[in-house]
Amino acid sequence: MENLDSIVAEARSAFASVTQLADLEQVKARYLGKAGLMTAQMKQLASLPAEERPAAGSRINQARDEIAGALEARRQALRDEALARQLAAEALDVTLPGRGRGTGGLHPVTLARSRIEALFSSIGFAVAEGPEIETDFYNFTALNIPENHPARAMHDTFYVDDGSLLRTHTSPVQIHYMESHQPPLRIIAPGRVYRVDSDATHSPMFHQIEGLWIDEDVSFAHLKGVVQDFLQQFFERDDLSVRFRPSFFPFTEPSAEIDMSWGDGWLEIGGCGMVHPEVLHHVRVDPERYQGFAFGMGLERLAMLRYGVNDLRQFFAGDLRFLKQFN
Ligand code: DAH
Repeated sequence: MENLDSIVAEARSAFASVTQLADLEQVKARYLGKAGLMTAQMKQLASLPAEERPAAGSRINQARDEIAGALEARRQALRDEALARQLAAEALDVTLPGRGRGTGGLHPVTLARSRIEALFSSIGFAVAEGPEIETDFYNFTALNIPENHPARAMHDTFYVDDGSLLRTHTSPVQIHYMESHQPPLRIIAPGRVYRVDSDATHSPMFHQIEGLWIDEDVSFAHLKGVVQDFLQQFFERDDLSVRFRPSFFPFTEPSAEIDMSWGDGWLEIGGCGMVHPEVLHHVRVDPERYQGFAFGMGLERLAMLRYGVNDLRQFFAGDLRFLKQFN
């Protein structure tokens, strides 16, 4: 019985020296467990004279309660410490400046395309689209490029299967549009086109912008005016001049190559002409009543010149350092 005080004291200091909650349960067993010191004390009661047992029993109970109390206090203290540590580790400094999300941007080809659409919309052109997988008919035949015509070879076509191909130009959109709309009509058709061609200045996929204006009195002079006006506005240069060079396209007659003044010289920027009567026949438009012009330009070319990009491959490399400059 004299031991009791020292057992309690020993338990207190044993608990105090524990620093992990899990270890505490082990230490607890030594004092309060079934094979622990307090159980041993209880067992000794049996050897005492009967009249001494109640007083001794109550002293043992008291000591055990003290130990249990000390254990609980230590347990709580360790929990508090663990919580405090966790809170400190997970603390957020809400006064730190935000990291920012960064902004995305539009691809320069998309920027050029939007700009072109806005300019043509302002003079009454609708924006039309067509499929990228075309039939031979829309890509060639309806555009007055019959089978075995040498112009087909010039197009370096990707064939999908016997009947279909990846369109080699945006001109087939003219056919789709005239099939479903009656003149007068005015459209531009921007979109992807494909050719078997890949080097520093050619990509197997690139973009064109097609233009078409059909009405009763549309002339070659309108064509030149519209093209020149567009290029001057696109590049924001009133002094930009446009030169038409005689050329040949099966779907226009007469046809011209479009050059524009650039630096000390001229740059070819597209093709154009008066829509061939044969094309109008294919879409059941009467060429005696309606005529008009069409043109086609390379979108990457326009974007390169406008944004000062000197390598076509930059457009398709997906290099963020390049793309971020257009944010
Ligand atoms: N489709 C031609 C090409 O890809 C470009 C073109 C030339 C389109 C003259 C036209 C045009 O509408 O009139 O090379």
